[in-house]
Amino acid sequence: MAITMKVNGKTVSVKAEPDTPLLWVIRDEIGLTGTKFGCGMALCGACTVQLDGTPIRSCQTPVSAVAGKSVTTVESLSPNNSHPLQKAWIAHDVPQCGYCQSGQLMSAAALLAKNKNPSDADIDAAMSGNICRCGTYPRIRAAIKSAAAEMRKA
Ligand code: FES
Ligand code: FES
Repeated sequence: MAITMKVNGKTVSVKAEPDTPLLWVIRDEIGLTGTKFGCGMALCGACTVQLDGTPIRSCQTPVSAVAGKSVTTVESLSPNNSHPLQKAWIAHDVPQCGYCQSGQLMSAAALLAKNKNPSDADIDAAMSGNICRCGTYPRIRAAIKSAAAEMRKA
């Protein structure tokens, strides 16, 4: 079955079985490997992308569910780490093993698109579906606040 969607602003058409997880289409068919496979059960958030601006778990989203919609992956932030979130992530040394980080960034980007000045509680609520085995949660919180301040200045 041919499925057409937008990925990072570009229209893409792929051939896939309707129940193929979006994650595999993003990685194997489209070639964007920033999005990671962790648990495959919608539990860890490593595979988080945005669907029409809302964070979703691409490991448990059938590709047929995104036909005609807009998918955004971590590659959309910037190619050179110039997005305020990427800069804040680097400044706060957020990534440790790094495996969860693209999912963390996509949840954080969705939060800041809706809330320019999130509180600790807002951040904890928005990020609660993204697990980090390396325990980078305090750094993530600090980096989100830095990025939010930077974005408010722009
Ligand atoms: S790989 Fe999708 S939630 Fe863990
Ligand atoms: S940085 Fe290692 S799992 Fe989050």
